[in-house]
Amino acid sequence: MALLREPLLLLSRSGVVKKLVSTMPVSAGIVKSYVPGETTATAVEATRGLVDDDLKVTLDFLGEDTLDVEHADATVAAYVELLRELSSQGLSRSAEVSVKLSAIGQALQDVGHKTALENARTICRAARNAGTTVTLDMEDHTTTDSTLTILRELRKDFPETGAVLQAYLHRTEADCRALAYEGSRVRLCKGAYNEPEEVAYQSRIDVDRSYVRCLKVLLAGQGYPMIASHDPRIVEIASSLASRFGRAQGSYEFQMLYGIRPDEQRRLARAGETVRVYIPYGQEWYGYLMRRLAERPQNLSFFLKSLISK
Ligand code: FDA
Repeated sequence: MALLREPLLLLSRSGVVKKLVSTMPVSAGIVKSYVPGETTATAVEATRGLVDDDLKVTLDFLGEDTLDVEHADATVAAYVELLRELSSQGLSRSAEVSVKLSAIGQALQDVGHKTALENARTICRAARNAGTTVTLDMEDHTTTDSTLTILRELRKDFPETGAVLQAYLHRTEADCRALAYEGSRVRLCKGAYNEPEEVAYQSRIDVDRSYVRCLKVLLAGQGYPMIASHDPRIVEIASSLASRFGRAQGSYEFQMLYGIRPDEQRRLARAGETVRVYIPYGQEWYGYLMRRLAERPQNLSFFLKSLISK
């Protein structure tokens, strides 16, 4: 099954396959188990369900690698609408948003960095008005420097802005040290893209070891670590490291993806931990779904069945 990871991640960037399957409605088969819906209303409804179960939420309006300005603008507008809705429904104390910079212009030729920064500012302002925060997702390694530079710029006006770091990258332990300061929110994940060995650990065990080293840096630091993993061993290690570093519950949080290990999400919350669920929504679910299938190729047969029956 591990052999399928690389081809699936390559397919996640294939425009042809994307076109072929993207006409499938979100309600179809396996997509629905990872993505609750396409609209702001369905995203808000899913948020309410989780918040009622004492979970917190971060919402991602799906999209990535946008190469057209209108599309980037439409994504910004979707976030602004979502934030307004979360606020008016009294959910913005429990729900924030996650943003992929490539969905708001980072991949545009020449003006990508500047456009993504301006658009991210608009979303941060809307989040501030709604009383909540923004976390910048991290994409493939060619974007890491630009994303961390944009984070630094945003934090001058919006110091509550968080970012994701990926344990599979060799550089990440150093990035954790640089970001483990007071007020800094860092979501640590293993990493979901197909990365070359020059920049990333390739074996599971090396990635897991790096994750634990990074976690120690974040938990020992002054910031707010967000432990994003479904891996039972990582969750267990994180809990014992948190007490070893004298971290009270609520001075860090666990995060998991919508639809993955929901019972564990609730178990941790019942044990007094802060748990945040990442909800992706929207029509552009293709890249997201392919990365989830790459993590769990066992689900590939369900996906193919839903394609055939469409
Ligand atoms: P691992 O992949 O080892 O999985 C551990 C266990 O979790 C599995 O044995 C299985 O039980 C369950 N599981 C994992 N994936 C599953 C799936 N798809 N379906 C069903 N069960 C599954 N990555 C990135 O590069 N940039 C980012 O910005 C983010 N953002 C992000 C936010 C949040 C809140 C989370 C939880 C994750 C991300 N990721 C991410 C994804 C992350 O990098 C990673 O690919 C996945 O979380 C899978 O890694 P795990 O740590 O869960 O371990």
